[in-house]
Amino acid sequence: MVVMGSSEAILQVFRAPFVKPDSTYSLGSFIKYKKKSGSNVVRLFKCSSIYHQFPAIPTTRFDNLKDKRFESSSCKCQNTESVSGFTTENENSTWFVDNAKEFNTIQETGRSPNLLGSEDVQKIEKENESSLSDVIEQEAWDLLRESIVHYCSSPIGTIAANDPTSSSVLNYDQVFIRDFIPSGIAFLLNEEYDIVRNFILHTLQLQSWEKTMDCHSPGQGLMPASFKVRTVPLEGDDTATEEVLDPDFGEAAIGRVAPVDSGLWWIILLRAYGKSSGDTSLVERIDVQTGIKMILKLCLADGFDMFPTLLVADGPCMIDRRMGIHGHPLEIQALFYSALMCAREMLAPEDGSADLIRALNNRLVALSFHIREYYWVDLKKLNEIYRYKTEEYSYDAVNKFNIYPDQIPPWLVEWMPNKGGYLIGNLQPAHMDFRFFSLGNFWSVVSSLVTVDQSNAILDLIDAKWADLVADMPFKICYPALEGQEWQIITGCDPKNTPWSYHNGGSWPTLLWQLTVACIKMDRPEIAARAVKIAEGRLAQDKWPEYYDTKRGRFIGKQSRLFQTWTIAGYLVSKLLLANPIKAKILMTDEDSDLVNAFSCMITSNPRKKRGPKNSQKTYIV
Ligand code: GLC
Repeated sequence: MVVMGSSEAILQVFRAPFVKPDSTYSLGSFIKYKKKSGSNVVRLFKCSSIYHQFPAIPTTRFDNLKDKRFESSSCKCQNTESVSGFTTENENSTWFVDNAKEFNTIQETGRSPNLLGSEDVQKIEKENESSLSDVIEQEAWDLLRESIVHYCSSPIGTIAANDPTSSSVLNYDQVFIRDFIPSGIAFLLNEEYDIVRNFILHTLQLQSWEKTMDCHSPGQGLMPASFKVRTVPLEGDDTATEEVLDPDFGEAAIGRVAPVDSGLWWIILLRAYGKSSGDTSLVERIDVQTGIKMILKLCLADGFDMFPTLLVADGPCMIDRRMGIHGHPLEIQALFYSALMCAREMLAPEDGSADLIRALNNRLVALSFHIREYYWVDLKKLNEIYRYKTEEYSYDAVNKFNIYPDQIPPWLVEWMPNKGGYLIGNLQPAHMDFRFFSLGNFWSVVSSLVTVDQSNAILDLIDAKWADLVADMPFKICYPALEGQEWQIITGCDPKNTPWSYHNGGSWPTLLWQLTVACIKMDRPEIAARAVKIAEGRLAQDKWPEYYDTKRGRFIGKQSRLFQTWTIAGYLVSKLLLANPIKAKILMTDEDSDLVNAFSCMITSNPRKKRGPKNSQKTYIV
């Protein structure tokens, strides 16, 4: 039997030729149909996922656990269904663009426009849209709840993907720290705080786990990329079992890369939890304070580097395999800045942490100066680079990093709009990576790593380059893709990262939520609303894929998982925030006057003026 998801059922109704309201599919009967079938179909759909889930998947070493986890998560689903007095938000308060013609996915039905007056059609379309939207949201909530992982009967996270069609699970059956962030935010916005609190405390325990790879241990304070709940025999008792958390710090992950972003996201989520729940007891706990400090110490430790940006290996974040982002990738810098800002708010002032707080403040100023000044490109800056002198030795060099103008890629000369700009992907000696990386740009806006003007210019660029960055599915993870020899050399011929696929210019719907927060921060929510509308027309129908392929994001990714949790959660967070933009504040940070003063002090003492070695030693104590 083919069991249809609720939104699929409704989409089928929408695909029927458009007819007058008094015929078979009148609006009234449509609503009745929706309500009636909504509950039945959703339940059947859930059951079918449960039944297909395990027997169909090839055996892995954690099969028992999967059965167990799913048992408990399905029984949790029963609970949440009765709890789900959750009502979708009032559509009137959402920011959807009025122009139904432009963004209406129902339009492609081939109906005759002459049957109804255009006003009638628009009215009905609007009503249908909001009903469809409600159903899709309800399906997303159901799926999100089905992805919940339990540990000792408490919810502690969400599985990365719950794809019954996938033949190889790899590590998608684990709770990824970065993937849980949108899930956690969705739960916070829905005032479900326990799962987030549990997640924060359990991952904190993993932070001090003994971790080694070939006898080498990474720095203390590292947070895992992911973990899973395993059921193991109880020591000394063959008849009993216990559940344990099994973290992966990169020692098992493909490519063996340490996740630099996990700890940074953990700090950001911790602050969001406090702001949203009002519960200050969590952040005041000694173990939580110690956890924050351990992450900070690891990030602020002295190294060989000349830059205030964090120096990392390739693939230390959302892009977790070789893509030529090693060095000082923007995504890490934006999360680093955001985590420093959040930690600054949360660290308890005590004698022992005075040095750490001073180091943190100095780094914030230096980091924002560095990014705003050297990562920024717009037409004017590009023209400056085009005319750069090279091989400048001395403190007052203009072209500090010795960038050869020929590095400006031909695509960018055409691509850069007259109005707008963005932060480049990476800066190293004699090397600028001019690719546009979305997450780093969004989060630089959210955290105030960039100025207000720069933030607006980033949104202007997104608007101007909509056809390249959004097209048929928001949002390109980076633009443009590496092709030909560049792809061979930079990715190492990675068959998953072929041009316009996966990390190499693929379109990732999860990025919607970060886009939404950035747009709300700049008071331009209509940009995000436009993107949500495009995604909403496809996501549920396509079974919530992890990513899309091709230049315009037209195909579901070749190796894309279906029912990818952060696709589902990202959509929900966007919808919830657009309906209630004030709530986005739990994720934003603003530059305060202390930082602004320290920053202007740095600008007057620096940048292109003569600067001797003594001056460069100066610290700014905020
Ligand atoms: C992929 C993504 C990574 C994500 C993981 C689990 O590896 O690149 O960012 O955390 O899948 O969804």
